[in-house]
Amino acid sequence: MAYETIEVRVEADKVGVITLNRPKQLNALNDQLMNELGEALKAFEADEKIGCMVITGSEKAFAAGADISAMAKYSFADAYRGDFITRNWETIRSIRKPVIAAVSGFALGGGCELAMMCDFIIAADNAKFGQPEIKLGVIPGAGGTQRLPRAISKSKAMDMCLTARMMDAAEAERSGLVSRVVPLDKLMEETLAAAITISGFSQITVMAAKEAVNRAYEGQLSDGLMFERRLFHSLFATQDQKEGMDAFLNKRPANFTNQ
Ligand code: CAA
Repeated sequence: MAYETIEVRVEADKVGVITLNRPKQLNALNDQLMNELGEALKAFEADEKIGCMVITGSEKAFAAGADISAMAKYSFADAYRGDFITRNWETIRSIRKPVIAAVSGFALGGGCELAMMCDFIIAADNAKFGQPEIKLGVIPGAGGTQRLPRAISKSKAMDMCLTARMMDAAEAERSGLVSRVVPLDKLMEETLAAAITISGFSQITVMAAKEAVNRAYEGQLSDGLMFERRLFHSLFATQDQKEGMDAFLNKRPANFTNQ
């Protein structure tokens, strides 16, 4: 499929890379881009060769937020009846394979929220995160008020949402928003290495791990612990569990078949 606002490629035969590509607007997220992103994610999800996906932007901007020019004139009725944001921003939540955000430059507003919708964030040392919606007379609308407090504490989330200040990469790592910070010129190399590592494991096990961590993130501890235990038990029904453990005991590399 031909896309206009994103670029799509496959690395090492097993990693799907999606590059947001509206450079003049600093990758501001409009309907077309979010529709295309959703389509690309679903296509990689359906491709058996792909074990992990990466979403990235440009050196200057991962994404500077929802497209302000597209929404400036919305009425309440336009936003509510048109199911603004939910209508095409939630596709990523249905993706069961891991999605990594590789962030350089600005990740603001919806850009920060999109990064947080990914399973983890690897940041370049020039990355800047923020929820500046308050300056526009609105609040974050794609999960910022819900995911930020879980990621970085209530106090820091309040600070970000109420003052609109940006957080640099070092603070983002210190606060737990990103999993690691790497030099800008190593961002894709390091992210692809992580994605290739993930793609080398059993896809079933990877999806189970993602589902279980998301339970911890989204739900109650007792519910999450039971969910994890049941998934853990069910993996003993897979050939990949037999293969992984046999390979370890016989000191050989595992050959996972996703069965
Ligand atoms: N929407 C639409 N256009 C945007 C944009 C956005 N979110 N962010 C940047 N642009 C456009 C600018 O209008 C400008 O276009 P022109 O060249 O045609 O004037 C171009 O991108 C370059 O931007 P700047 O000249 O402003 O670049 P800069 O380097 O001086 O500043 C910036 C960069 C700090 C990111 C600044 O552009 C900025 O503050 N952008 C807006 C950030 C923002 O408020 N994001 C939140 C949006 S609301 C939201 O996301 C709601 C939600 O929760 C889903």
